[in-house]
Amino acid sequence: MFKRSFSQHSSTTSIFMKLISDFMKPHRGLGSCSFFTSRAASYLQNACEATFDSERSEDEYADVEWDKLSFGLVETDYMYIMKCSQDDEFSHGHLNKYGNIELSPSAGVLNYAQGLFEGMKAYRKVNGNGFLIFRPEENARRMQMGSDRMCMPSPSVEQFVHAVKQTVLANKRWVPPAGKGALYVRPLLMGSGPVLGLAPASEYMFLVYAAPVGNYFKEGLAPINLVIQEENHRSTPGGTGAVKTIANYSPVLKAQMQAKKKGFTDVLFVDSVENKYLEEASCCNIFIRKNNVISTPITGGTILQGITRGSIIEIARELGYQVEERLVSVEDLIDADEVFCTGTAVVVAPVNSITYKGQRYKYNCGEDVVSRKLYRSLTDIQMGLVEDKKGWTVQID
Ligand code: COI
Repeated sequence: MFKRSFSQHSSTTSIFMKLISDFMKPHRGLGSCSFFTSRAASYLQNACEATFDSERSEDEYADVEWDKLSFGLVETDYMYIMKCSQDDEFSHGHLNKYGNIELSPSAGVLNYAQGLFEGMKAYRKVNGNGFLIFRPEENARRMQMGSDRMCMPSPSVEQFVHAVKQTVLANKRWVPPAGKGALYVRPLLMGSGPVLGLAPASEYMFLVYAAPVGNYFKEGLAPINLVIQEENHRSTPGGTGAVKTIANYSPVLKAQMQAKKKGFTDVLFVDSVENKYLEEASCCNIFIRKNNVISTPITGGTILQGITRGSIIEIARELGYQVEERLVSVEDLIDADEVFCTGTAVVVAPVNSITYKGQRYKYNCGEDVVSRKLYRSLTDIQMGLVEDKKGWTVQID
């Protein structure tokens, strides 16, 4: 058993005093006494649970068949929640037991898709204790950029990273053993307050939950097969293609389902104006390689500025490749030596074939492909197998 009753804790009084003082700090001079009594009680309850969980030994694992992990939801123990009203700033969040949340039927997120999400992975360190998360500040900044576009207040970078760390620590028994997968961390920002006429919601919720995951595609690390979709578009100029709004994702489902029915792994979208330039796949960015030149579509407002995409660009340049962010046409794609996709969930996935207008184009997927080198260089940093000279990883102990 990992949980002790509160009375068993050796320093109960000092922990309570510290928690009360932590809680009161940002609230001094505000509100009524009864408000603070109930808020403080719930804060203390949640904070105590978190305190106890952090005492779990590092080698305690949840009951999961780690070798069978896929990219599906496995419910974990805790989630982090922070709320604020429309004209306010986020100020204080806490861990809650993982579970359903209550929303008004007229919540902005349910009626008008006023919401954003992020995704990142925490790895158990191979050599030594603790966990590593990869460039969480970048996710925090991307959420801030998206929240501006979606008219929502957003957590500060510090609040975002703190919430992610708390969520990983509270769910640490769900972080897969090294080499078996990662804890996928999913921050959400949503208009939780009721609204009927089209307008920003009156209240906002920032929530972080996590789930242990394995490979994203059912192919595992095997090369994937994409089909170019010309009828549906993922985004349009002036739209929200560059922000990680929840509204960008369900519109791709129809094309994705149709592609899967025909045996493809995923869909590759082209631009909505000329139907000619590559944009991205349904959940990842795309790269092509021709000789020593690696190209990826420029992020001109219709493509997500992937954090893995940016990291791979940097790594590839350091490995001596010329990397171009530009308009990449379907013709360039057909002419490429190698194609691969990048994303947090996907990591770096080699592409075996692309089907365009009924014609299948095959690519080199052997052991010597550059995408394998890039995958290794990236994941070695993410998993702590090599020294992180770039300061990309954040250690959680
Ligand atoms: C991620 O890579 O984190 C994503 O956002 C993809 C998601 C649709 C599974």
